[in-house]
Amino acid sequence: MSNQLALFGGKPVRSQPFPAWPIFGKAEEQRLLRTLRNGKWGRLHGPEVAEFEERFAAMHGCKHGIAVVNGTVSLRIALMAAGLPANAEVIIPPYTFFSTASAVIEANMVPVFADIHLNTFNLDPKAVEASITPRTRAIIPVHFAGQPADMTAIMAIAKKHKLLVIEDAAHAHGASYRNKPTGSLAHVASFSFQSSKNLTSGEGGIITTNDDKLAAACRSIHNCGRIPTGIWYEHHVISGNYRLGEFQGAVLNAQLDRLEHQTKTRDRNGQYLAARISQLPGICPQLRPKDCTRHSYHLFMLRINGQQFGAPRAAVIKALQAEGIPCSAGYGWSLHHQPMFRHKAFGPYLPQARKELNYRKVSCPNSDLICREQCVWLEQNLFLGTLADMDDIANAFEKVWLHREALETGFQSKAKR
Ligand SMILES: Cc1ncc(COP(=O)(O)O)c(C=O)c1O
Repeated sequence: MSNQLALFGGKPVRSQPFPAWPIFGKAEEQRLLRTLRNGKWGRLHGPEVAEFEERFAAMHGCKHGIAVVNGTVSLRIALMAAGLPANAEVIIPPYTFFSTASAVIEANMVPVFADIHLNTFNLDPKAVEASITPRTRAIIPVHFAGQPADMTAIMAIAKKHKLLVIEDAAHAHGASYRNKPTGSLAHVASFSFQSSKNLTSGEGGIITTNDDKLAAACRSIHNCGRIPTGIWYEHHVISGNYRLGEFQGAVLNAQLDRLEHQTKTRDRNGQYLAARISQLPGICPQLRPKDCTRHSYHLFMLRINGQQFGAPRAAVIKALQAEGIPCSAGYGWSLHHQPMFRHKAFGPYLPQARKELNYRKVSCPNSDLICREQCVWLEQNLFLGTLADMDDIANAFEKVWLHREALETGFQSKAKR
């Protein structure tokens, strides 16, 4: 540990790679070949997607699962299925992927940003309450990084104001809140199976719910507006073809068998790493309330206070990377600062409401602070190995901290050049 930083020519803490992602084997091969050979490649004829929907929904505490082509249309379909009117306001966090907002706009509704809590990185219920207007119709809490949002408070607000709640569980496969699975914590939920996600088929998504009416509406919208009692050429509502294909269903069925074990491993490793590195000055891993009974660690997130730590985030990230620890700063700005919002480039959507909207005035200081100078992300595949892997990560953080003065000086002189 006393050797100098790898950034300045020392020996790195780690030279082995972390577990690769995705993980696959014979089970995926067998299901894919079976699908290839049976010629039933589409959702309407094959068994794979139907089987997956049932198993995934059951694992996530739900009666219904509707598999779709990605975790963006799943959000939009859920909004449309609820029958919310055009221009309805939908409260979302500013610290999330683009889709949480784009799905709202593509449903012809208005995203309203409520700030996150500085330590949990999830929607702050006080900010939600403060954002409610007579036009508010829904809230989309994101279980960011795989840690469930404060659902007790959010559902209480929703009940009081008669709002729909859609969980954006794109990061939260297999997570739980008060021992209840994510996906079953609100009226309806959306998951993503895009390639970085903890359960993946390259692309894909699913809607889960225990509400029979919402489920029927989602199923119809995902299938060109058809209804179970109708004939093939009979379309009841505006919608499209958002059905997931059988090859993806085949991969997902095989991947699903691995999810429980992988989630347990990530949760154990994430908690272990958080306990170790939180000992260092200025390092605050995502605060885990006791209501979070399982974190899926799609991301391991932390805040670094550069002054307390003794070196700025950018320098720490460079130093950790050189020590063999893949990490990044995550989002460079809050979602409402994206050019799409600054210029209200909403295409044909919100033609009237857009005149009054001014996203330059939105104030979400917690999200801005972590984007600008504090947040660090480590990705889920790093957490699929052993506690010894976690020790490498923690040792790298400790090494960087021990050499913080050299790091700051070296980084500043490099930056000047
Ligand atoms: C929080 C969140 N919501 C929604 C999505 C959209 O999922 P997809 O990429 O499957 O459309 C993502 C994807 O990265 C996400 O991170």
